[in-house]
Amino acid sequence: MSPKLTKFVDSLPIPETLKPIKQDKNGAHYEVTMEEFSQKLHRDLPPTRLWGYNGQFPGPTIEVHQNEPIQVKWNNNLPNKHLLPVDESFFHEENLPEVRTVTHLHGSETTPDSDGYPEAWFTNGFEEVGPFFRRKVYEYPNHQRASLLWYHDHAMGITRLNVYAGLAGMYIIRDRKEQSLTLPSGKYEIPLIIQDRSFQDNGSLFYPSQPDDPPENLPNPSITPFFLGDKIVVNGKVWPYLEVEPRKYRLRILNGSNTRAYQLYLDSEQPFNQIGSDGGLLSKTIEMDKISVEPAERIDVIIDFSKYNGETITLKNDLGPNANPEDETDDIMQFRVRLPLSEVDLHRIPMHLTRIPSLKNNKITAIRTLKLNGTTDEWGRPLLLLNNEKWMDPVTVFPQLGTTEIWSLMNITNFTHPIHIHLIQFQILDRRPFDLELYQSNGKIVYTGDARPPEPNERGWKDTVAAPSAEITRVIMRFAPYTGYYVWHCHILEHEDYDMMRPFIVVDSDKNGEGDKN
Ligand code: C2O
Ligand code: CU
Ligand code: CU
Repeated sequence: MSPKLTKFVDSLPIPETLKPIKQDKNGAHYEVTMEEFSQKLHRDLPPTRLWGYNGQFPGPTIEVHQNEPIQVKWNNNLPNKHLLPVDESFFHEENLPEVRTVTHLHGSETTPDSDGYPEAWFTNGFEEVGPFFRRKVYEYPNHQRASLLWYHDHAMGITRLNVYAGLAGMYIIRDRKEQSLTLPSGKYEIPLIIQDRSFQDNGSLFYPSQPDDPPENLPNPSITPFFLGDKIVVNGKVWPYLEVEPRKYRLRILNGSNTRAYQLYLDSEQPFNQIGSDGGLLSKTIEMDKISVEPAERIDVIIDFSKYNGETITLKNDLGPNANPEDETDDIMQFRVRLPLSEVDLHRIPMHLTRIPSLKNNKITAIRTLKLNGTTDEWGRPLLLLNNEKWMDPVTVFPQLGTTEIWSLMNITNFTHPIHIHLIQFQILDRRPFDLELYQSNGKIVYTGDARPPEPNERGWKDTVAAPSAEITRVIMRFAPYTGYYVWHCHILEHEDYDMMRPFIVVDSDKNGEGDKN
């Protein structure tokens, strides 16, 4: 069904950096408009109809400096008919407009009214707005350390479709500390948004309207419990290549896929020098032969091409392909070391990067065991849940402002869920396996091994963590600096939409308020 496409025939596009429309005492002001447009994603594919920020896929990169706040007006100028099949059978409200958007800046420390709450959606021209809608112009304080964040759509029940249609882009925070390290920069710093997509022969995006072999009574369209595309798209091109000089390059990599996880490696058998994770620099550079990246996770790596002059190196994925013979997702993109060295490479790969204070010694105010579980709905479809609660159930998690908590994510399903928590960056404490079958028969937790510390490249700031099946993954975080409504969820977008997402409310115990929903 999906057209066969030659690999490595298009050069890698670099998304342009967004320019502010004005600058005043409140910082830089930006305006971004979501639009429908067509873009060529491969030499041999007719232009693809997409939705994107400012008519681009991926969206323009927003680049800021720490402690310089910015304002962004997110406009919706999309048609009122969706590009992809919308399943309304599980919506919590009736008569919702088919096309709704709300932008979330993933990984950011932002007040609730600028965080992109899923029910703070709005339609074209703000004609209709969701029950949580607060403001048209979002404010990002950028207090946090240098890191690669990303913005993407987060509208209730259709996030998987809006992001798949193209609504995602990168957001880079810079700071002095990082700049003092003289890492490769400018044209030697390359952002890579890796996504999987499937196409029809006419170039349009393919997204299934039902699971394979659906039972007869199933709603049509019906949400699928996962989505795996058979082509890899990087920065909006299918299997691109990049010509590089024989020198060091810094790659800022984001897995922007709906469901697919990757395990990246280079076919030249050279290691990556990983310097950062979701929330910024690691404490020291780690050599990694292979790096796992779950949906929404980011990695910051330096690759040294200096010994590979004239060679071609392929960035590969050890987790592809799956059973589908058309799936060639073991290839990601190619680096061709054929540009002349324009100047001597003075960039270093520093050993020591930054100091990461451990949260372990903080006073712990709450330890929560939160199950990742699932059941089936009235049509027999998988219904995935957090702690057995649906999105619409009453809020049960109320962290107190300024306090530290440990969350034990106990995965009693059969697959890994990348769990993301808004507002904060956390640290991973450990993962410990337990006997899942026994737990399912008598509810008792019997450990089958010791707790494993996080992988060396996970020992920094994180906002998304792989929580494997039959394991308890423990994370620690301090809830600050804002109070109010936030969400945590599985970042497999098909899970997030149905119904693996929950609100939590950060409360100020001194004020004894719990933040008013209305
Ligand atoms: Cu990247 Cu709540 O999302
Ligand atoms: Cu987020
Ligand atoms: Cu999940």
